[in-house]
Amino acid sequence: MIKVENVSFKYKNNDNKILDNLNFSVHDGEILAIVGQNGSGKSTIGKLIAGIIKLKQGKILIDDLDVKDNSKLIKDKIGIVFQNPENQIIFNNIYDELAFSLKDIPKEEVESRINSALEQVGMLEYKNSDLYTLSLGQKQRIMIAEILVKKPKYIIFDEPTTMIDSKGKEAIYDILQNLKKEGYTIICITNVADEILIADRTLILNNGSIVNEIEKKDLIEEACILKKFNIKEPIILEFLNKLKENNITLNIKDFTIDELVTQLKGKIKNEECN
Ligand SMILES: Nc1ncnc2c1ncn2[C@@H]1O[C@H](COP(=O)(O)OP(=O)(O)O)[C@@H](O)[C@H]1O
Ligand SMILES: [Mg+2]
Repeated sequence: MIKVENVSFKYKNNDNKILDNLNFSVHDGEILAIVGQNGSGKSTIGKLIAGIIKLKQGKILIDDLDVKDNSKLIKDKIGIVFQNPENQIIFNNIYDELAFSLKDIPKEEVESRINSALEQVGMLEYKNSDLYTLSLGQKQRIMIAEILVKKPKYIIFDEPTTMIDSKGKEAIYDILQNLKKEGYTIICITNVADEILIADRTLILNNGSIVNEIEKKDLIEEACILKKFNIKEPIILEFLNKLKENNITLNIKDFTIDELVTQLKGKIKNEECN
């Protein structure tokens, strides 16, 4: 579990208070989305949790370890995936890129870790390819594999699909959901409306404060809160609320198109029987 307690933050060269007394937890095995407008402090939170920038006020505990005193242990527990994969790539060759993160791992284990990470992101067939031959979405999948080879418990995704086309986005959503099934705990910092749909909970950050928390089961009812804070609403929520206004209430849990179609078909059948 990650606990963020009374965290406030200012950058040295910037007088603005970026984060103002944040308090929240990340539960083991969940996908937690953090949404907010540009400049609301989302990336700053991610970097503080991952220990990339130093905490000055408040406390962050990761499995009861204080990030301030345990930077080495924390680095093994948490990985972070950034928005632009091209800024992270060091080597041309995919195998070399992934092996670079495993310098401290026994040689005989390196190959199996690389194979299983590439399998987790659906890129095993590219093991010996060059990164420059890949699409941006595929490069991002390799960046995720680069985190997975280190076997962390927590992964922070900081706007992982903002730069990626819609097909590439879908592939990454599938990966996130599969990682959750495998037991990873995920924080997804995002500006992309659809990423809210794969989260178990969503925190809304506004001017450095958490102003709301929405659980997946309440998303349809509480979609108006997203609007209130100028967060782009997933189109499926808008659609479900329009149906509701027309007295058609569906029992949606996963927000997939298949689920929607099945439910609508059921409604049409019921209408025909009445
Ligand atoms: N290294 C930095 N030095 C000074 N100010 C920064 C730095 N990084 C971010 N900021 C400022 O902090 C605020 C929050 O940034 P950030 O956490 O990146 O927000 P978000 O990820 O929500 O867009 C912004 O106003 C940004 O200009
Ligand atoms: Mg950001």
